[in-house]
Order: sequence, then structure tokens, then C-alpha cells
Amino acid sequence: MIKNICCIGAGYVGGPTMAVIAQKCPHIKVTVVDLNEKRIAAWNDKYVNNIPIYEPGLSDVVAEARGRNLFFSTEVDKAIDEADMIFISVNTPTKTYGVGKGMAADLKYIELCARQIARVAKNDKIVVEKSTLPVRTASAIKDILDNTGNGVQFQILSNPEFLAEGTAVEDLFAPDRVLIGGDTTPEGQKAIQQLVDIYANWVPNDKILTTNVWSSELSKLTANAFLAQRVSSINALSELCEKTGADVNEVAKAIGLDSRIGPKFLKASVGFGGSCFQKDILNLVYIAKSYGLNEVADYWEQVVIMNDHQKRRFAKNIIKTLYNTVSGKKIAFLGWAFKKDTNDTRESAAIFVADDLLSEQATVTVYDPKVDSAQIQFDLNYLETRSEEANNKGVQTVDNPYEACKDAHAIAVLTEWDEFKTYDWQKIYDNMLKPAFVFDGRNILNKEELEKIGFIYQGIGSR
Ligand code: NAD
Ligand code: UDX
Repeated sequence: MIKNICCIGAGYVGGPTMAVIAQKCPHIKVTVVDLNEKRIAAWNDKYVNNIPIYEPGLSDVVAEARGRNLFFSTEVDKAIDEADMIFISVNTPTKTYGVGKGMAADLKYIELCARQIARVAKNDKIVVEKSTLPVRTASAIKDILDNTGNGVQFQILSNPEFLAEGTAVEDLFAPDRVLIGGDTTPEGQKAIQQLVDIYANWVPNDKILTTNVWSSELSKLTANAFLAQRVSSINALSELCEKTGADVNEVAKAIGLDSRIGPKFLKASVGFGGSCFQKDILNLVYIAKSYGLNEVADYWEQVVIMNDHQKRRFAKNIIKTLYNTVSGKKIAFLGWAFKKDTNDTRESAAIFVADDLLSEQATVTVYDPKVDSAQIQFDLNYLETRSEEANNKGVQTVDNPYEACKDAHAIAVLTEWDEFKTYDWQKIYDNMLKPAFVFDGRNILNKEELEKIGFIYQGIGSR
């Protein structure tokens, strides 16, 4: 029976996942390690609200387990040495250099972990791929472990994570399924069972699915590709709705009632963001291409192309509607995070919309309940479109939505935070320049009410 778990990577996946395992399995010691000292210090902050990741319910889970059987540390070697089971939950971003640049997953952090495990391990271990990885990565990890290790036995499992940010704790408490892939050998099956036994502490058995390693690895990329495809599909239709007078919300409802289609993940938006969808689809495209499957690759690449178009046309529409110039105009952004209930901004549509508006010499003032100015500047600087100084000058961050909207020519809603719906929109209108425009990139505000106040309102996918 597993008594001691180590997880390498204390990020958006490693942190919440291990916190929940620790809470549900008080008999297992769980140590989450990371090279990032600041992040680990934040996980250990005596005020549990200061943990580095904002997720509803997470601080309560951490508060319960931390110091009991949940530990956060920078001592990676020690945690590896002590563990029976090691989860690898490090980042696997899109490569920014060399072969596969802009498409393939960068596996350097994964390889570093494998080499470190091999170097440190003095007894048999189960290594679990928690990160999202290209299909067949387990064989590369196994090669490294077997060839650079100390002669101990390793079993590699694939256990991809399906949580969505903003609902991570809910998703971990009651997952649609837990997927575990492993070797078909008796040793592989034994390792699978040991991981099944951990999840069985709170997940019903019929929701724990076991497969071979390759199916498990590929299922994760496939799930994200299908989800993102739904968003791009409805977004593609949103543009047609705007031209024809159909309303995308009505279309989504009408098709979603077909039980074969289903109602979820059909919200038209300014475009999907987040650290996963684009990265994982591009990775899938790259893998397909590497096997010479060009039609397969082109098919999936279109999901990302459509998403880029959706972000870009949102910015273009703001410029066109504001009489073809936003130069010197103040545009207020409500929201910067890639979705509500998270402080994560990776690949957020807001970044790209702001970038386009800044290139047209607009000034952007941002209010987001969970994202600070340093992060916003970091996101824009990362694009390298203009100097850091220019980004600093062009974008202001404020901690009050009314101040953000004061004297603005237009408001753009980039994230669907619930609080935006509760604002005093009359007060906002009174303090704006006229005509006062609202571009609702999330279709969350009440068009009729806003128009009654005097706003010129434009949502996505309707006139
Ligand atoms: P993250 O960037 O938030 O966290 C990764 C952490 O790993 C970082 O803190 C980094 O410092 C640490 N790290 C990197 N190399 C290390 C090493 N050699 N030793 C110790 N620490 C190291 O990333 P994330 O969002 O948690 O994603 C992790 C993986 O999970 C990715 O493969 C991602 O695709 C996958 N995933 C993410 C989500 C999500 O919603 N974010 C959901 C499912 C799967
Ligand atoms: C996604 C997957 O849902 C999750 O299973 C996987 O583990 C990680 O990737 P995440 O990126 O955290 O999760 O959030 P998700 O809810 O999927 O939203 C992704 C993006 O799509 C967000 O920008 C969201 O606003 C957008 N979206 C989602 C839409 O625009 N419309 C929708 O109908 C759904």
C-alpha cells in the first residue's frame, strides 16, 4: 500500500490535486515539491488565503491537511527518496525554439524530473505522469529511468488530470472519471491497482477507468481537443449569427437540447484561453504531422485558427464601431483572467485584445478582481510587440471597476466574473463619455437593461 507520495510541480494541477488526495487520504503523507521558492513559500504562508492559486474552496482543503499529511517543500531529492509513488506535474508548454517550435510540447522539464528521479531513487518506485504529455512519452521516461537509474524497478503510469480551473476542487471531489493507464504486464497491473486504491478513497469504482498507457496519454489531448472544438464551433457560428440576425444563444440552446449534442461548452465568447487548449491541440497537430497524417493535423489546427480569428475580430469590431479610431481613447477592460474564478491569465483572450488595441494607440484600463498589475504587464511584455515602457504607459490597472470605467469611451467585458452583473450600470453610464459603448465578450450583461440606460451594447453572436 502506498504510504508516501511526492509530487513534483506545485502549480495549478499539482497543488490542488495533491491537496485533495491529502485531505481524502489522511493515512498517506503527501509532499509537493517545486524549484520555485516563492511559490512554495506562498503554499506555506501562515495565512491560508495567501496560497498562490485562487480556486474556490481550495484554501479550506489546504487548511485541513497542511502540516498534518500535506507538505510543501523545495527539497526535491529528499521527497523523491522518501516516496513510494512520484507524480510528475510540471509544466509542458509549447516549444519556443528549435524543431517543433510553436507546436510541439517542450518536454525538457519532464526529462529533468525523470533524470532526477533516476539519480535519487534507491528503491522501487511508481512514477505517475500527471502532466499532459504527447502520446508515447512514457516510453521516453522509462528509457531514462532504466538507463540512468540505480538498478531499481520503475513502473510508469499515465494519470492525466481533467480538472478545469475555477472549479478545480469540485472537479477533484467528484470527477466525471479518473483515467489510469499502465503496462499490461502483471507488475504494470499491480501499479495501476495501487493508484486505483488511492482514488477509491473517495471516487466510486465505476468512475475509475484503467487503460493501456498510450490510450491514457492520447485521451487527455483528445478530450481537450474536443472541448476546444466545441467552443470554436459555436464561435464560428457566432459570426454568422451577427450577419444573419440569428442569435447564437438561441442557436446554442436549440442544438444543446439534442441529447446527442448536449448543452455544455456551447457559450460563444471572445475566444478560449487558458494554458491547456491551444497548447494541447498544437501538440496533437504536431504529433499527427510527425506521423505524416496531414489531413488529421489540418483538421485540428483549424480549431486554433478559428480561435485566433475570434479574438482578433473582437478587437477589430471595437475599433470599427468607435468610428474606426481608438487612438487616444480610453477602453475599460472588465476582466483579465482567462475565465472566472481563477487568477490564471495564461493565453487569456484579454491579452490579445489589449495588444491589438494598444497597437491602435488606445489606452486600456483594467479591472480584474483577482489579477494584479504586475501580472498584466508581464503578459503583455511576453508578447514582445512593443517596449515594456510602452506597455506600461498604455495599460493601467485599477482595483475599482467604477474607476476603470470612468471617462471611458467603451467597456469591454473579457472575463465572465459574476460580480460584473451586479454593478450599478446607471452610475457607470453617467461617468462615461458618450456615446457609451459596451462590448460584451462573454454575453453576461443584460442587453435590454443596458440599452434602456443609454448604452450602445454589442454581445457576441447577435445583433
Ligand atoms: P504550472 O506552471 O502552474 O506548474 C508547474 C510547476 O512545475 C511550476 O511551479 C514549476 O516551477 C514546476 N517545475 C518545473 N520543472 C520542475 C522541476 N524540474 N522540479 C521541480 N519543479 C519543477 O503548470 P500547471 O498548470 O500546474 O500544469 C502542469 C501540467 O498539468 C501541464 O502538463 C498541463 O498541461 C497539465 N494540466 C493543466 C491543467 C490546468 O488547468 N492548468 C489541467 C490539466 C492538466
Ligand atoms: C480545460 C479543460 O476543461 C479541462 O478538462 C482540462 O483539464 C484543462 O483544460 P480550463 O482551461 O481550466 O480547463 O477551463 P475551461 O472551463 O475548459 O475553459 C477554457 C476556455 O474556454 C476559457 O477561456 C473559457 O472561458 C472558454 N470557454 C469555455 C468558452 O469560451 N465557452 C464555453 O462554452 C466554455
